[in-house]
Amino acid sequence: MASGKIILGITGGIAAYKTVELARGLTKKGYEVYPVLTAGAENFVTPLSLATVTGNKVLKETFTEEEPILHIKLTDEADLIIIAPATANIIGKIAAGIADDLLTTIVAAKNCPVLLCPAMNTRMYQNSIVQDNLNRLKGHGFFLLEPDSGNLACGHEGPGRLPEVQQIIAEVEKILSDKLLTGVKVLVTAGPTREYIDPVRFITNKSSGKMGFALAQAFRDLGAEVYLVSGPVSIKPPFGITYIPVETTEEMANKVEGLFEQVHIVVMAAAVADFRPKVTYQQKLPKENSTSIDFVKTKDILKSLGQRKGRKFLVGFAAQTHDLENYARQKLIEKNLDLIAANDVSRSDVGFDSEENELLVFTRDGRKIFFSRESKKIVAQKLAQLIGEMYLNKQNEKG
Ligand SMILES: Cc1cc2nc3c(=O)[nH]c(=O)nc-3n(C[C@H](O)[C@H](O)[C@H](O)COP(=O)(O)O)c2cc1C
Repeated sequence: MASGKIILGITGGIAAYKTVELARGLTKKGYEVYPVLTAGAENFVTPLSLATVTGNKVLKETFTEEEPILHIKLTDEADLIIIAPATANIIGKIAAGIADDLLTTIVAAKNCPVLLCPAMNTRMYQNSIVQDNLNRLKGHGFFLLEPDSGNLACGHEGPGRLPEVQQIIAEVEKILSDKLLTGVKVLVTAGPTREYIDPVRFITNKSSGKMGFALAQAFRDLGAEVYLVSGPVSIKPPFGITYIPVETTEEMANKVEGLFEQVHIVVMAAAVADFRPKVTYQQKLPKENSTSIDFVKTKDILKSLGQRKGRKFLVGFAAQTHDLENYARQKLIEKNLDLIAANDVSRSDVGFDSEENELLVFTRDGRKIFFSRESKKIVAQKLAQLIGEMYLNKQNEKG
């Protein structure tokens, strides 16, 4: 028996009548199905039939007193959103980031994969704007089930027909089970660390944690069990992972070393402080005291993990303001890493605390890969996929 929560979005296409059968098929497989209708869809399918086959209330309204933030509640818990049929209209709205009804608002707040099943008249489907919108959505990681070709309800012939219900269910099962890293445990570190001078003063760095958090989410979406150990940041941890907040390098080292034996992949994306004050004063230093601070090196967590790596896959980050490539290549070898992702932190458009990132990746097997500037989320998805594939290859090589 399958399990999982599916939001089934139904829009105003002629094929909407087939979604009662789809909802029934998914429910029979064991999925919990929550139908969400657009205003257009109600012309083609009745809420009562969908409620009957799924056992769940059919949702239509964004603004309800019973559940004021229904779209967030639903997206927090869903494993998949399907939109079948997906009209040209909803495809355009999603591609433009519009959120003007419950279904588009849910998609804007999504926290899981989305499967679009476009169905429409052939001319509409082949319209270059519709095609551009579909390509744009594919680029953003949406799954797309191409429509079938044949006689359409409008009398035209060509692509545009909603695929058979069994084919849509097969696609759903593929998306929900086809996860690269099912059963793999991944430890990600993120954010800065703080090294205290006295109880209220500390040294730290500009890391926002965004890249590490995006990586934790990307590994989660690949099916991994994720542990995220992070220094102090102002962003929320992704849903569905184990979050372990820490403050100092020593605390981070303790947590990471404690988890190390039970995980398979370790990605050290945290910007760990390299130095700490030699002395931490127990009381706040009076400002009258002129004081100079001596620093000592903090523990090199990555190096100590590299020394006991075994079959694990170890990834480091190199944040540099200059001579990035030489520094990264040297760190890859010195720390016994499998892969290193180098960030140019001298730039304000990528790296520390920015929304986007650009990475130069070097691998143990001598490859150099460039991830061009994109949102940290997309860069994280690409990097997590590469790490996942390399980890699995490494396991296969060693038998
Ligand atoms: C009888 C009829 C059938 C329609 N079938 C489709 C269709 O199969 N695909 C489509 O994209 N639009 C179709 N439309 C147009 C949509 O219903 C219209 O664009 C609507 O605004 C979609 O709203 P929604 O996407 O919010 O449900 C049809 C309209 C009518 C009147």
